Amino acid sequence: MKILVTGGLGFIGSNFIRYWLKNHPQDHIINLDKITYAANPKSLSDIEKDSRYRFVKGDICDSQIVDPLMAQVDTVVHFAAESHVDRSLDDPEVFLKTNILGTHNLLNLAKKHDIKRFHHVSTDEVYGALPLNTQEKFTLDSKYDPRSPYSASKAASDHLVRSYFHSFGLPITITNCSNNYGPFQSPEKFVPRMITNLIDGQKIPIYGDGLYVRDWLFVDDHCSAIEAVLLKGKVGQTYNVGGLVDDVSNLDVAKTILAVMGKDDSWLTYVPDRPGHDRRYAVDWSYISEKLGWQPKSSFKEGMQKTITWYLENESWWCPLKTEAENFYKKLHQRRSK
Ligand SMILES: NC(=O)c1ccc[n+]([C@@H]2O[C@H](COP(=O)([O-])OP(=O)(O)OC[C@H]3O[C@@H](n4cnc5c(N)ncnc54)[C@H](O)[C@@H]3O)[C@@H](O)[C@H]2O)c1
Repeated sequence: MKILVTGGLGFIGSNFIRYWLKNHPQDHIINLDKITYAANPKSLSDIEKDSRYRFVKGDICDSQIVDPLMAQVDTVVHFAAESHVDRSLDDPEVFLKTNILGTHNLLNLAKKHDIKRFHHVSTDEVYGALPLNTQEKFTLDSKYDPRSPYSASKAASDHLVRSYFHSFGLPITITNCSNNYGPFQSPEKFVPRMITNLIDGQKIPIYGDGLYVRDWLFVDDHCSAIEAVLLKGKVGQTYNVGGLVDDVSNLDVAKTILAVMGKDDSWLTYVPDRPGHDRRYAVDWSYISEKLGWQPKSSFKEGMQKTITWYLENESWWCPLKTEAENFYKKLHQRRSK
């Protein structure tokens, strides 16, 4: 395969490129990334010189850049997005540009170049939220009910991707995945923020009562789900991807990290909630499991252990990002407490 990966300097994209080149030695990848605040070129420094890999700096909204790249590949795996919910509450417009118009630009040029597979990476947040204390999960029949500008823009992009299948026969697939965690995730995000705070001797902030429930997936397992869909998935089909069977609250995540790092609950600090914070997400991933034989390899605890070990061993990767991440939260809390 010749794959155009978009957003490959971000968290999941960089893990995917490493995963793919390791498991598919014959394939070639072009990585198109705008290098926003969320990108980190260091995440792929180990494969920069690999002859099967090429990096192109550019915006997915820019047809002049995307058009010639699309002509050189047969497959697109589309990760590029503005992806931070907190940022989407403060500055939604860039989310609409990248996530909706950027996705549309890619679809349009994929159609022009007769791309054999356009895989769109999306989120379970398009389904909205579930009440606490229920067994309900997001299924492929759940209605779209996005609650933040981020999830609304991802929902719009999902609809556009499907419309290109129905209207133009573009061979698309979509995965709607739950929260990922693992190596190379910015310390601005929930799990690495907790881990790096503890390494730095700082407490872990918990939004509201901490009883928010999320599904958590180790990033390598997300990569293997996308691999299963690319190799065995049905064109036009959407697959929900998740990592857990039982509910785990944010407080449970924090306590797991504290336990692995040998610390007690005095390292928790409760901070004011964010607006419209969705209560519970839980993903039913039985469809991809039954149809494609995929399931996550890492249990929640194993994934957390691997992640914590990685952050302990790779301070030079995350340290330069930590101050900026904490400044972002400081400003956010100042604005919200006004
Ligand atoms: N992180 C999660 O837990 C999670 C869960 C489900 C789905 N997703 C989806 O997976 C994808 C990747 O998420 P992530 O966490 O790796 O994101 P990220 O924020 O870490 O990385 C996004 C990457 O996209 C690039 N980018 C942003 N705008 C661009 C543009 N206009 N043109 C080209 N490149 C651009 C950034 O520079 C960055 O490298 C997103 O589409 C996200 O919606 C993420």
